Amino acid sequence: MEQSQLTDLLGQMTLDEKIGQLLQITGDFYSDKAEERTGPMTQLGLDEDDLANAGTVLGVTGAEECRKIQTAYMKRNRLHIPTLFMGDVIHGFRTIFPIPLGLASSWDESAAETMARVSAHEASVSGLFVTFSPMVDLVRDARWGRVMESTGEDPYLNGKLAAAMVHGYQGDDLLADTTRVAACVKHFAAYGAAVAGRDYNTVDMSERQLRDMYLPGYKTAIDAGAKLVMTSFNTVDGVPASGNRHLFRDILRREWGFDGVVISDFGAVKEMISHGVAADERDAAKLAIKAGVDIEMMTVCYLRHLKDLIVSGEVPEQVLDESVMRILELKNDLGLFENPLRGADAEAERTVVMSKQHRDAARRVAEESMVLLKNDDATLPLDASRKIALLGPAAKSTDLLGAWSWKGQEDDVAALDVSLREAGIQVSTVDGDFDYLQPSDQAVEEAVRVAKDADVVVLALGEPSYMSGEASSRSDIRLPQAQLDLFKAVAAVNDRIIVTLFNGRPLDLSDIQSAKAIVEAWFPGTEGGRALADVLTGAVNPSAKLTMSFPVSVGQVPIYYNVDNTGRPYENDPEGKYVSKYLDVSNYAAYPFGFGLSYSKFEYGEVKVEDHEFDADNPLKVSVELRNVSEREGTEIVQCYVHDLVGEVVRPIKQLKGYERVTLAAGESRTVTFTITEEDVRYVHADYELDSDPGDFDVMVGPNSRDLSKAIRVHLF
Ligand code: BGC
Repeated sequence: MEQSQLTDLLGQMTLDEKIGQLLQITGDFYSDKAEERTGPMTQLGLDEDDLANAGTVLGVTGAEECRKIQTAYMKRNRLHIPTLFMGDVIHGFRTIFPIPLGLASSWDESAAETMARVSAHEASVSGLFVTFSPMVDLVRDARWGRVMESTGEDPYLNGKLAAAMVHGYQGDDLLADTTRVAACVKHFAAYGAAVAGRDYNTVDMSERQLRDMYLPGYKTAIDAGAKLVMTSFNTVDGVPASGNRHLFRDILRREWGFDGVVISDFGAVKEMISHGVAADERDAAKLAIKAGVDIEMMTVCYLRHLKDLIVSGEVPEQVLDESVMRILELKNDLGLFENPLRGADAEAERTVVMSKQHRDAARRVAEESMVLLKNDDATLPLDASRKIALLGPAAKSTDLLGAWSWKGQEDDVAALDVSLREAGIQVSTVDGDFDYLQPSDQAVEEAVRVAKDADVVVLALGEPSYMSGEASSRSDIRLPQAQLDLFKAVAAVNDRIIVTLFNGRPLDLSDIQSAKAIVEAWFPGTEGGRALADVLTGAVNPSAKLTMSFPVSVGQVPIYYNVDNTGRPYENDPEGKYVSKYLDVSNYAAYPFGFGLSYSKFEYGEVKVEDHEFDADNPLKVSVELRNVSEREGTEIVQCYVHDLVGEVVRPIKQLKGYERVTLAAGESRTVTFTITEEDVRYVHADYELDSDPGDFDVMVGPNSRDLSKAIRVHLF
């Protein structure tokens, strides 16, 4: 449709029809069985006219189902405006990829793009037009269950990965390519900073910090062309995001020029009553529409009260019209007026969803996402000629998909024991189930007996998937006690333990440090068992590196590498009393941001700069020679960090400004060069302007945020 036709269409709409466009409800409202519809309809107080006008649908999939709903809907809608199917496709549709925190550990934008591309293809043939991804919340607190859904603690890396996802979902031509879906950046803003890591809790930080650290990731994803933005559940500076005009009108729309659709999070408009900033639904509707929230997800404050607010003059009709136009434009950008089913195709659904090609892609990404945290005495890869025991609750578990994988099926997953056997490794296991939290005494005794008899024990531990994700915060981020007890009992009879972990957050692993090797496999998805088996056998050489720090103890949380300098830095005086430190635990992470080992061994040469001075026209060129000094090919993620020595406001002691995945054959070496521009070292000043400070900077390169080269001093003019 031409823009003028959209304007005409808007002109023909009644007030009720316009307000209807702003409502999102779930698919059960459209069930053709009246008895299934009645419950939800009564609960929200909707009638058939409301259903005929509701603009978008949440969480329905299946080409046939969507076709049925769309056809019936368009008949009932007076102006035949199509509805729009949205859903959460977060790390795969049916073919599940590693959780985003695992995917991020690949530091591989092409892996992020592949995940999104495959997800879009499966979702689009199954009838979806929009996915609620990427989630770009910066995270520093591993207690928060939703860190699994994030890509970590660094704004630069988060932005890069989110932009790659947006491109993977939307492609280059969303209108023409019906195998793509529109992307929705969430949760705007700063949802990851919930106080004490408790989900839905208050967020409170300075506006400068918000702009400097938390907003850039979202902005990069929005600049990549994402069509929608979702509000967050939390408050920002005392105002819930879904009613926060400053966030949405001032920053998102005016400063950043975002002209796409803003959708509230699930129920978040009405929740402003619980927050205590709205007296009732009418008040909540007024706050949300004034803030610029176009679609209200799953509550009916707009539906019930917007008309009255407009008639009374409290909300100008123009504000409503702008929201409706954005929704119509989104439908038009997706080509729905001409093709209301878009890519939904029952035949393609059968061949595309879970195709071999998609499973292979998920397996490759999973291989790239597993972090080798420890490997003493080259215990890994496994020596197939030894007697290997595979024990622990995750040994036979198919709970490898992780949260936010509603279309994934455990039946598609090969567990670790099955995968190792497929890979030709014979392992002894115990019979029966082994519970994650309360294994039977008999199961534990049997495990100890098998461990005693083995040369090496692979102990498959972790969190069940319900322990991370939404509403799944934990105050104790160690492994469940029963698993620590199991580790101890096994360690008493066999000291060659390799721990593998399936989990959704950084854990405190202090209690299992006597393990010879530790592999963080996250929730690796449909092909994750096989990917882990390949890492264990050595068919795959691990290359992943953490994007979120693992603390020594939960008491250090929030812990992150890019901390601000303090007036009494611990580094200057580790023995001193009056320095910024704890009495009982170090300041540092057990495994820092950027950390991960390989079966290869890499050496870094001297870091060099082409010129010690740089300016807006002449960027800094930093190079280092990387050598693979081992017998096998491997991939190293080389990282470049910068410290702005004197800023107008306190600057972090280091910030990631470049990274590269480098694959080297045995004995090979290569010079890796980073280009750092003046723009790269800009930051948000006290007046919220993004600018750089001329002066001295330190540049460091290395394998992780802790083990960096000696700093090279450079000067910005
Ligand atoms: C979550 C969102 C999600 C939405 C729709 C909410 O509970 O916070 O991330 O997109 O539900 O399912």
